[in-house]
Amino acid sequence: MKIMVVGGGGREHAIIKKIKENPAVEQIFAVPGNGGMANDATLVPIGAKDIDAIVEFAVNTGIDYAVVAPDDPLVLGAVDALQEKGIPCFGPEAKAAIIEGSKVFSKNLMKKYGIPTAAYEVFNDMQAALTYLETAPIPTVIKADGLALGKGVIIAMTRDEAKDAVRSMMQDKVFGKSGDNVVIEEFLTGPEVSVLSFTDGETVVPMISSMDHKRAGDNDTGLNTGGMGTVAPNPYYTDAIAERCMKEIFLPTIRAMKAEGRTFKGCLYFGLMLTENGPKVIEYNCRFGDPETQVVLPLLESDLLTVMQATTNGTLADTEVKFKNEHACCVIMASAGYPTAYEKGYAITIPAAIADQVYVAGAKLSDGKLLSDGGRVLGATAIGDSLEQAIAASYDLVKQIHFDNQYYRTDIGARAMQAKREA
Ligand code: AMP
Ligand code: GLY
Repeated sequence: MKIMVVGGGGREHAIIKKIKENPAVEQIFAVPGNGGMANDATLVPIGAKDIDAIVEFAVNTGIDYAVVAPDDPLVLGAVDALQEKGIPCFGPEAKAAIIEGSKVFSKNLMKKYGIPTAAYEVFNDMQAALTYLETAPIPTVIKADGLALGKGVIIAMTRDEAKDAVRSMMQDKVFGKSGDNVVIEEFLTGPEVSVLSFTDGETVVPMISSMDHKRAGDNDTGLNTGGMGTVAPNPYYTDAIAERCMKEIFLPTIRAMKAEGRTFKGCLYFGLMLTENGPKVIEYNCRFGDPETQVVLPLLESDLLTVMQATTNGTLADTEVKFKNEHACCVIMASAGYPTAYEKGYAITIPAAIADQVYVAGAKLSDGKLLSDGGRVLGATAIGDSLEQAIAASYDLVKQIHFDNQYYRTDIGARAMQAKREA
């Protein structure tokens, strides 16, 4: 089989490595991929948002199955366009990807179907939003409606901050059209859990839970990033909470999307907050998370391609999805300065013996040498019998990888360890 994976980050590298385990796979094309994946896939220099070119490449190459991993091409209809040419895909059609593409849509969906989430108001008029903020409870959360490279959420600790956020989105258009509408919502507190799930639109199978570390600095200080590391499973996510989430959130969401004529197939990511009043949805993503995928897929015992095809074919109920009873930790090695300005172009050395455990995100090949080429450069994932062992082993990997100007958090998994001690 010839497989195409659209996207170019660490998440895509983890997907590619896992798909490769299937003996029927002859060749994997990464579109565009990155230089760090060259040993695992054939790199195709087409941008992940260039849907016409992607479809043309897939047709000409005789792609048997396509995986569209990032949010942008999904929301732009990459799956629809590939399916039209008869190419089966993993991922939702545009009309279902809207669950991530529009926060107004997802909030209204949750309200209509009684799915627990933060209370909210929607505004398309800036003056009305500013007036509302005069008396709204503080802290409050301001969210741009559309995709905003993961930056469209502002937690405002003061009324002025909240108003500034509204002005920057609705007047200065810092996120373009994504800020035409804003959601202003209740500030929730509690541990956060990421639950990725496989779904064929009828059946939903949650993957092992995980915990992201979004802030740039140790002890959750500094700016928000795309994610500086992950652990799985998430110790806050007990069996009792999982059962409750299935009943109150996962199944109701899948059924709601079907009832709306927007059947969701692929990976639906539930960003949850475990509040005093039970689990609530913070956000939906229409795709695998990054860097959640880099801890979840290494723990998947079943064959990934088989499970993906089952979501496409509607046979997930008859397909085994099994996870190892182990722990995983992924530490992201970034360029110092990320998520703002940073230097790149430094040679990366990864010992061959550990290359299987490294997922490359921001790197390029130049004269056969791998050079750092982004904010998040790579992630190193280790598996262990305990969380403690997984953490120690992943930092052991990090110490064997070198590039100049490198930076990583030293406390990935520390909060999870503390949660375990308190349990
Ligand atoms: P996102 O950029 O959409 O991944 O979300 C950013 C982060 O904002 C989430 O991971 C939460 O930590 C936080 N967040 C979003 N909504 C709320 C809320 N209603 N209350 C508290 N924190 C929130
Ligand atoms: N790690 C969060 C995300 O992928 O959106």
